[in-house]
Amino acid sequence: MSKIVELKNVWKIYPGGTKALRDVSLSVEKGEFVGIMGPSGSGKSTLLHIVGGLDRPTEGEVKVFRRKLSTMNEDQLAEFRKSKISYIFQFYYLMNDFTVLENLTLIGRILGVENYREKAFELLEFLRLTHRLKHKPNQLSGGEQQRAAIGRALMGEPSLILADEPTGNVDHEEGERIFHLFKMLNGEKKITFMVATHNPDLKPFFDRIIYLRDGQLAGEEKLG
Ligand SMILES: Nc1ncnc2c1ncn2[C@@H]1O[C@H](COP(=O)(O)OP(=O)(O)OP(=O)(O)O)[C@@H](O)[C@H]1O
Ligand SMILES: [Mg+2]
Repeated sequence: MSKIVELKNVWKIYPGGTKALRDVSLSVEKGEFVGIMGPSGSGKSTLLHIVGGLDRPTEGEVKVFRRKLSTMNEDQLAEFRKSKISYIFQFYYLMNDFTVLENLTLIGRILGVENYREKAFELLEFLRLTHRLKHKPNQLSGGEQQRAAIGRALMGEPSLILADEPTGNVDHEEGERIFHLFKMLNGEKKITFMVATHNPDLKPFFDRIIYLRDGQLAGEEKLG
């Protein structure tokens, strides 16, 4: 097995002094479907941001795909993320001036995805958004925006998907559908997932759950 993500003694102290991560060491193997759970404020989003190179740790070492993120400058990090990592944010970050369809096709074009229009249509059909193709994000419900953001994250060919509460705003059934889609991508394309969630109903989907509490590792549960 090869380690896709490796954190060693990682600390994140925000300006103002909040210790959001305290001496966290963990690793994730290629092809794993890992859950990150813990109370609000325990450091889940911070952890995903640091793994995704969106934020830097105060101390400690972060390796993703065997590369030390601390050795990369911002441009190198951006390029690295673009080619290999997809991020599904807790707060969607869709492009507000563009329609749902354009939010997907523009990314497809930037990433050089073959047949990106077909791919966008397929994803939006699966995510039950075909009746909203021409809507802009501010004309959508929270759950619809979330599904569009998921569609956008799946446009490329990422090796690692970092998802922060990806089903926080959809109903139970839709949440399960999205997790089934994730599991399918995990199985068929060997995409590694790290998914932060509060929802205990989704626990059975995970191979392993990493628990955080007050910024520290508070245990691990092996499932699958
Ligand atoms: N940009 C920031 N500046 C200062 N403090 C921050 C910042 N972002 C997060 N924090 C603090 O760091 C701690 C961890 O936050 P984080 O967002 O990682 O938690 P979380 O586990 O994702 O919570 P939630 O379940 O509510 O999303 C919290 O105490 C939070 O207030
Ligand atoms: Mg969070």
